[in-house]
Amino acid sequence: MHRQIGILTSGGDCPGLNAALRGVGKAGQGCFDMHLVGFRDGFRGMVQDRSIDVDTRLLSGILTDGGTILGTSRDKPHRMPIGGKVRNMIDAVVETYERHHLDALVCIGGGGTQKNALRLKEAGLHVITLPKTIDNDVACTDVSFGFDTALGIATEAVDRLHSTAMSHSRVIVVEVMGHRAGWIALGAGLAGGADVILVPEIPYNIEKVADAILARSRAGKNFSIVAVAEGALSAEQAKTIERLLTGKESAATKEERRAASMELQGFHRKHVNHTLELTRELEKITGLESRLTILGHLQRGGTPSAADRILATRMGTGCAELLNQGVHGVMVAAQGSGTRAVPLEEVAGKKNLVPPDHPWVISARQVGTCFGDEYTPTAGTGK
Ligand code: F6P
Repeated sequence: MHRQIGILTSGGDCPGLNAALRGVGKAGQGCFDMHLVGFRDGFRGMVQDRSIDVDTRLLSGILTDGGTILGTSRDKPHRMPIGGKVRNMIDAVVETYERHHLDALVCIGGGGTQKNALRLKEAGLHVITLPKTIDNDVACTDVSFGFDTALGIATEAVDRLHSTAMSHSRVIVVEVMGHRAGWIALGAGLAGGADVILVPEIPYNIEKVADAILARSRAGKNFSIVAVAEGALSAEQAKTIERLLTGKESAATKEERRAASMELQGFHRKHVNHTLELTRELEKITGLESRLTILGHLQRGGTPSAADRILATRMGTGCAELLNQGVHGVMVAAQGSGTRAVPLEEVAGKKNLVPPDHPWVISARQVGTCFGDEYTPTAGTGK
């Protein structure tokens, strides 16, 4: 039976988006008699009805390309800046869906997209999502595509920083992305042999970090590499965040909630510079020359790794199969070497954070990596 399928990419871009579009499109058209309509720049393209025919020609030659041929944006359908005002545009999305006689809409995105897709499901649309993000923080899936590529780039950076840090006897702090999750810092730190790894899930004490660096110096190692997640928090900052979050949750009135939100946003805005402050502090405490490298959007650009191409293709074709079976209201999650459909209600609003007792954390500790916390090795931990 012929089906008309809408598709869009939303949120920050990442390597593998085009591979996923190609997976959905080629399987949908080649195996299941689907026609695909692509919407430009995420949900904004649906609101403004800016679409493109996703035919086989468009899908050809994009498997290895970074970014997304459809464009993307962080716009949310229920809070979209339009003409200087923030408006709820869900009705406009529904109208576009109906105008194109869509049978379903595929939304490829991260955690925010899962929430937005659920809102559209509640508005009556047939939605299906694919999890993408370099941060690997989407819940209910083994992994999200984009992460493996970013991990490779961050690991290469940690590798390369070793020789320059060693030559100049310096401490090099390398800030990686990850939003509020520490997967990239943890993975790249473990793979690249960083001496210190700081992640949001394990609040740090700067004195402990400095102690680890000085212990290396005393042992004749004249340099140290500190891999820091952009969202890493000192124990003090973690307490502030907790206080602000509790304040937001317990706010009784709309005004109180808004004030608490503003305070929280203010914290995150200021926190953006925390790795520079951390680097300066470490230099002061240890007396060792220190430098900061911020990898930033380098981690999101360029060609996807082989693992991400495979994962995105697998998720894309899995999505086409589910669409063919008439399944919707779900996210296509990676499970082992296959996929599974997870109801959007189970995914939306949840985050995949690093469990402090994750095997990667334990291994890193066992090879002597400092997380800047109170940890002391005990018998049986391999130390
Ligand atoms: O979610 C992906 C991500 O790259 C995060 O790691 C980072 O915090 C954020 O997006 C950066 O966003 P922007 O592209 O808006 O600068």
